[in-house]
Amino acid sequence: KGLLIIHGPNLNLLGTREPEVYGRTTLADINAHLAAIARQHDVPLAHFQSNHEGALVDRIQAARTDGTAFIIINPAAYTHTSVALRDALAAVAIPFVEVHLSNVHRREPFRHHSYFSDLAEATVVGMGAFGYEAALRYALRELGVAPP
Ligand code: DQA
Repeated sequence: KGLLIIHGPNLNLLGTREPEVYGRTTLADINAHLAAIARQHDVPLAHFQSNHEGALVDRIQAARTDGTAFIIINPAAYTHTSVALRDALAAVAIPFVEVHLSNVHRREPFRHHSYFSDLAEATVVGMGAFGYEAALRYALRELGVAPP
């Protein structure tokens, strides 16, 4: 049973992209940090970033048969637009946590609606890069590999 981290569009630019909103931590830093924590618990962790909606749908579909037991996803801008990504998560029926670096609720009104939150086990917003660690530690507990 493994964990899958999915990063949506423009998150490849983390570190330089609007650092006052999204912080200075790069995506590589985030992935390395999460991988180190997963390794401590002997849980396989895969990560995937794409700027393309269809590629993200394909990766989520693949999770149905690749041993993924839990997904952590930041759909980025697709949060507010993508019925296709939502349907992919519903189709594979793998529990997931939705993460946003920024507090989307104190930003523009178009960021207040998510196509994912009502399907998610939990959501994390506004904690910056730490939000991924919080989601990962929650997932490890849910999978029964870390103490509650
Ligand atoms: C984001 C918030 C989204 O509204 C935005 O489009 C992003 C990043 C976040 O992590 O805060 O690209 O998902």
